[in-house]
Amino acid sequence: MLLRWAAERLLPLVPLSQEEIGAILELPPNPELGDVAFPCYTLSRQWKRPPAAISEELAIRINEQPTGIRAEAKGPYLNLFFEPLQWVPRLLETILHPDFACSDEGDGRRVVIDLSSPNIAKPFGVGHLRSTMIGNALANLYRASGYDVVTVNHIGDWGTQFGKLMEAYTRWGDEEKLRQEPIRESLRLYVQFHDEAEKDKTLEDDARRWFWKLENGDPEAQRLWQYFVAFSMEEFDRVYARLGVTFDHTLGESFYNDKMGHVVRQLTDLQLLEESDGAQVVRLDEEGMPPCLILKSDGTTIYPTRDLATAIYRKNEMGADKLLYVVGGEQKLHFAQVFAVLKRMGMDWSDRCEHIAFGLMKFGGRKMSTRRGQVVFLDEVLDEAVSKAEAIIAGKNPDLTDRHEVAQAVGIGAVIFGDLKHNRMLEVDFSLDEALRFEGETGPYLQYTAARAHKLLDKCGLIGAEANQGSLEQSADYLSDSAAWECLKTLAAYPDAIRDAVRLGEPSIVARYLLDAAKQFNRFYHQERIITDSEQATRGKLVLVAAVLRVLRSGLSMLGLKSPNQI
Ligand code: ARG
Repeated sequence: MLLRWAAERLLPLVPLSQEEIGAILELPPNPELGDVAFPCYTLSRQWKRPPAAISEELAIRINEQPTGIRAEAKGPYLNLFFEPLQWVPRLLETILHPDFACSDEGDGRRVVIDLSSPNIAKPFGVGHLRSTMIGNALANLYRASGYDVVTVNHIGDWGTQFGKLMEAYTRWGDEEKLRQEPIRESLRLYVQFHDEAEKDKTLEDDARRWFWKLENGDPEAQRLWQYFVAFSMEEFDRVYARLGVTFDHTLGESFYNDKMGHVVRQLTDLQLLEESDGAQVVRLDEEGMPPCLILKSDGTTIYPTRDLATAIYRKNEMGADKLLYVVGGEQKLHFAQVFAVLKRMGMDWSDRCEHIAFGLMKFGGRKMSTRRGQVVFLDEVLDEAVSKAEAIIAGKNPDLTDRHEVAQAVGIGAVIFGDLKHNRMLEVDFSLDEALRFEGETGPYLQYTAARAHKLLDKCGLIGAEANQGSLEQSADYLSDSAAWECLKTLAAYPDAIRDAVRLGEPSIVARYLLDAAKQFNRFYHQERIITDSEQATRGKLVLVAAVLRVLRSGLSMLGLKSPNQI
């Protein structure tokens, strides 16, 4: 906000557009250097004069007129100081506006986001958790930025592993167990299959036969497949309900079974297919990548073929202007190949496909491996998070009535935030105790700060009260000190955090922004007595509290965290 106002102030004085000025302006590292700084190097090149002389001259011209912005030249920098008494009401008004977090940057363009996308009969992995949370946050942030967002859960419900599972199930399966603990039982069967297959080579052939039967519409194979899909989905849906995530579409990979033939024909017509060891590939030498496999030697399609059909479907049938894939970094090559093949097919929109990759997450150094059955189950992590949160809350606030519900919000919020606060490409070694620390850089810290703000407002009967212009003007008298002013400036930067997060596909920008805002508020809170005998002063300060609560709640919900009124 301040950046915009500073640009407006400079506009009549310099031969640059408002956008150009905006791109040059900086937020200084400390308040002594002003609220906004304008480095004069660009003008220096244009005017062929030393930058320090320009900043001197601009400072004089700005200070000639009393506009509530004071300028100081410091070497090549023009430092601008906003007069709090004058600007506090405008900042508050902006922050408290219902559309404060929204922009129309997306201009209604449709973005299709591929997220979560776990595999049937396999555990919902930590990678799927990251994809779900990063994808969900991006969906919210894009929506706030004026995009038309469509989320798709691209379930892995097809592939040779079903052959293995069917073979294992018919040999050693137990229907009752499968019904009760679908994923764990499938995993047991899957592990057993791999153990036995090392001794008995015919197992792999039998598994291949099952998959062949499935692909060719054999009723028994179909029945088993549907059965596996249904029970896995039930289990996934329980996870989504706990995480509070929904999807516009849940479409399995199998949905594209009848759409791949067309892609293969197109590739053939375009003469892009080449034989390689009996398989059909698209060579990508020019792009510096290994060939993209399209048809295996037995004529069956594979993962890249399916993603080609999927992308084309999302573009043509779902009307996507932009396609995002929130999938682990280990699939970098796969997506680069798929996008390159689309481009070769003449689909220039492939430039608007983007792989939003992320790094591995470990739990206390433990990695996951489905094959050996060493898996960290997400529902166990969530259960543990909730029970630990409940214990902490019981200690802090023994009288809380809905403690169990609050513990759900805090425990699960801790896991979500513990994931989202890291730059997505970083490898995360997740520690539950760390993520639950109420005084750390955590979700519970933010939730607790919001609850504290709520409590202050509630005490004075101001929950949901609308601030009017008069009260904003009066607030300025009580919010001009540095702690309040710094806090307000941070709050005003919320739309910038959202914009940057969308531009870089990086929800951690909003997560870190919220930590900063909460820290600023807590500094104000510890420095000032907010509720005093003077009703006017109390009310004045509470407007800032209301603004903090607005921003924290909005940001937390963008990231997928709940924000309980009391903790
Ligand atoms: N099911 C895949 C996996 O778990 C992720 C799918 C991602 N989406 C896609 N369109 N390929 O690895």
